[in-house]
Amino acid sequence: MTDIFSRLKQDHDRHRQMLERVADTSGDSKERREAFEQLRIDVSAHANAEEQSLYAEMLSRPDLQDKGRHSVAEHKEADEYFEDLVSKDFDNPGWLTRFKTLKERLEHHMDEEENEIFAAAKKDLSKQRAQELAEIFNERKPVEKTEVA
Ligand SMILES: [Fe+2]
Ligand SMILES: [Fe+2]
Repeated sequence: MTDIFSRLKQDHDRHRQMLERVADTSGDSKERREAFEQLRIDVSAHANAEEQSLYAEMLSRPDLQDKGRHSVAEHKEADEYFEDLVSKDFDNPGWLTRFKTLKERLEHHMDEEENEIFAAAKKDLSKQRAQELAEIFNERKPVEKTEVA
């Protein structure tokens, strides 16, 4: 059975591809709008469901609380970038520059989760708990997708 760490990594790998796809678009095109909207919805729903599963657990454990807080703050930062990009002119060259900053921030966030945060959480959580958290994540993600759309 899948645990929370491999489940989240699956999303991250998809998000890495989606980020490349948006970066390859140009101007105020249908391709850019669709690829960006798909990315925004999936990344936002992922972050919310992640906070309701893995990070809820980490925040409740004194040894993991700081790492949990750090990630939640980065989710907030990504939300702000998304809001800003939605409201800006997709045709402006500044849009892609700003998108590339978000892309770097998200890549950093996912690498840090995989290399530091999940590693620390893995040491503290039982295999069973890690599987339960994957179930919670899988229940929440589709609901969050409809909320953030
Ligand atoms: Fe995250
Ligand atoms: Fe994540």
